[in-house]
Amino acid sequence: MASIDLDSPTVTAGGDAAAPGKSRVTDGIAGLKSYGLLYGSSPVMLDLYDQIERVASTDATALVIGESGTGKELIARTIHDHSGRKDAPFIAVNCGAIPDELIEAELFGHEKGSFTGAVQGRIGYFEHANGGTLFLDEITEMAPVRQVKLLRALETGTFYRVGGNELIHSDVRVIAATNRDPAVAVKENGLREDLMYRLAVFPLRAPPLREREGDRELLAQHFLAALNTQESTSKSFSKRSIETLRTWSWPGNVRELKNAIYRAFILAEKTVELPHPHLASRVKKAVTQGDAMSVWIGTPLADAQKQIILGTLKYCGGDKRRAAKALGVSLKTLYNRLSTYGTDDAPEDGEP
Ligand SMILES: Nc1ncnc2c1ncn2[C@@H]1O[C@H](COP(=O)(O)OP(=O)(O)OP(=O)(O)O)[C@@H](O)[C@H]1O
Ligand SMILES: [Mg+2]
Repeated sequence: MASIDLDSPTVTAGGDAAAPGKSRVTDGIAGLKSYGLLYGSSPVMLDLYDQIERVASTDATALVIGESGTGKELIARTIHDHSGRKDAPFIAVNCGAIPDELIEAELFGHEKGSFTGAVQGRIGYFEHANGGTLFLDEITEMAPVRQVKLLRALETGTFYRVGGNELIHSDVRVIAATNRDPAVAVKENGLREDLMYRLAVFPLRAPPLREREGDRELLAQHFLAALNTQESTSKSFSKRSIETLRTWSWPGNVRELKNAIYRAFILAEKTVELPHPHLASRVKKAVTQGDAMSVWIGTPLADAQKQIILGTLKYCGGDKRRAAKALGVSLKTLYNRLSTYGTDDAPEDGEP
């Protein structure tokens, strides 16, 4: 079976925008609407499509706010694809995954010899994205001291490369994203208030799946249809799967739904059985009590490691920087691990 690309590309040049089609019926799935790369017919999604359409035609900075897996990157990409910048690059940068001391050079470039290891000069993402869109994901993870230069670049459209003295101009539209409440991030996580206001000229909320009335089943049918087309199969959901789709709250949002369908699709001969995620993961879950955690004897090492990582992250209130420190790994390593985990496997509190 060929590998299936479950996530959209992060760096692309030249838009491949689908024509705006808010009322388009897709994949022959009755009632399923889409806009650009986004699928869903719930009232909150239709409202989001309208907002995207409005902001896409402008150059306004946008801030996409929403839980993990709600499609923040797809929203940014859809704005780009429907903007006048669609034929120029769309560059996605995960600010949280870049070590603090490198982020300035990554964003703005650096001159040869500007720091140890800078054997050659390099341009940064702001210059790469010239004419296009720069998507700054997990913006609240950027250290406050780095945010100052970003704010200046946003306000003036100019910046210096690290170690450079030539003022560089780049025509870039910035879209930022966060899975935290920005006001809370200002109070508790070091997001500068002035940067927050500058980014949130046009705030967009990516709704969690549990608020998207009727979308779970439509999206599930859409993902299954895509897999069937790709693999030339005609698999269908069992009745129980439909029930699971409706009753499970999908805390990991569209990403969790998509991955669950992919797993069940691979296992299925003809009928796709979605195991109820809560029941399926219950037995092997670690149990946390305060700052202690018990892992069942015989838990495979990789699973134990995953439970400890997710448990620590939860204990640290979702603060990845703190969790990485507590675990004795780099932030980058933590991100790498998290990107391979689904979010439906968090350990349970105090439950035997
Ligand atoms: N409305 C949607 N229609 C179709 N696919 C979607 C939709 N929303 C999300 N997805 C899919 O779900 C997955 C997660 O989306 P995305 O990476 O954009 O989420 P995110 O909000 O950026 O998550 P994170 O905060 O973890 O980075 C991707 O595979 C994406 O293609
Ligand atoms: Mg993202």
